[in-house]
Amino acid sequence: MEVAKRLEGIGEYYFSQKLREIDGMNKEGKNVINLGIGSPDMPPHPDVIKVLQEEAAKSNAHAYQSYKGSPILRKAISDWYKKWYDVELNPDTEILPLIGSKEGIMHICMTYLNKGDKALVPNPGYPTYTSAVKLSEGKCVEYDLKEKNNYEPNFEKLAKANLTKVKLMFVNYPQMPTGQLPSKELFEKLIAFGKGNNILIIHDNPYSFILNENPMSLLSIDEAKNYVIELNSLSKSHNMAGWRVGMLCGAKERIEEVLRFKSNMDSGMFLPVQLAAAKALTLGKEWHDEVNEIYKARREKVFELLDMLKCKYSKEQAGLFVWAKVPVRYKDCYELSDEILYQSNVFITPGGIFGSAGKKYVRVSLCSTEEKIAESIERIKVSQK
Ligand SMILES: Cc1ncc(COP(=O)(O)O)c(C=O)c1O
Repeated sequence: MEVAKRLEGIGEYYFSQKLREIDGMNKEGKNVINLGIGSPDMPPHPDVIKVLQEEAAKSNAHAYQSYKGSPILRKAISDWYKKWYDVELNPDTEILPLIGSKEGIMHICMTYLNKGDKALVPNPGYPTYTSAVKLSEGKCVEYDLKEKNNYEPNFEKLAKANLTKVKLMFVNYPQMPTGQLPSKELFEKLIAFGKGNNILIIHDNPYSFILNENPMSLLSIDEAKNYVIELNSLSKSHNMAGWRVGMLCGAKERIEEVLRFKSNMDSGMFLPVQLAAAKALTLGKEWHDEVNEIYKARREKVFELLDMLKCKYSKEQAGLFVWAKVPVRYKDCYELSDEILYQSNVFITPGGIFGSAGKKYVRVSLCSTEEKIAESIERIKVSQK
């Protein structure tokens, strides 16, 4: 059967292909250490699991749920935004719980893009922005994020660009894959850019609690609700990637617009998951500190691994990864990634999969234990002898 034209140019997600290859290598007994994927390996807080268990045991927990999510979860999200980001959100009108923030990216594109409309996407950036724009028959206009500009958009260059038909701009700080933290000045420039060019800024914010002392929301900037939709998620911040809980926050009108699309896609989220997520959002700084201590120790080991590979990196990165420049003796990131995969059975992500601007970089995940990272170092050492 011929697939629809909209799938042209949309490949299988890189990781699903690579995981299949790694699976094949494991079947041959190679026991590959995967330092590629950003899926937290630690569990959520035990109280969160307890709420899920207790609620799931109730006989009235199994019906379809409201398209707008449980009022308890929306109130918890509103309190969480106030507590951590100092942002006021009306729980009844300015919050839409999502089945992970990834689906929100697609919903936003389907809600706002007509065929041929354009969206600015970061290079390097999360590949889903590009595929969601293409699937909704929009066109991507890439903007480069360069190390010498602290991985911030070059607003002077953007001001001179042809922005006709650009309706959306995807941004994401702490940035994935570069780990760059935002500043208030950057956020103010983004709002000014959206306002000046009538572009809706989509801020994807799933990493603000990981290795970052100062979580920030783009919605904390004056007037932001007029120009911004923010996506957020419990996947990384609360070790709940498989639970699929995220949120979309913004002006009442934006929530209503996106809901027109989303309510035709799914039929709400399992109530016990929503109530357990609400519990997770009440966790205090101690819990996040505990998780971050573990990531910090792992990051030290990853720095060691990168030093051994003679990669250069900044120590000021946030999020679940370390982004590092490959030494000049390698043609590009793929050569380095393949070399250690095939010689040492260790996988690290080639930066080129996040866009052409990532070709000279690799991304190492912090979602493996210190022991695994230490073993990776040993394996690479042995194969380099
Ligand atoms: C930048 C970015 N946005 C969104 C997501 C998706 O998160 P969720 O699990 O909430 O769908 C990821 C996951 O890897 C990501 O890296």
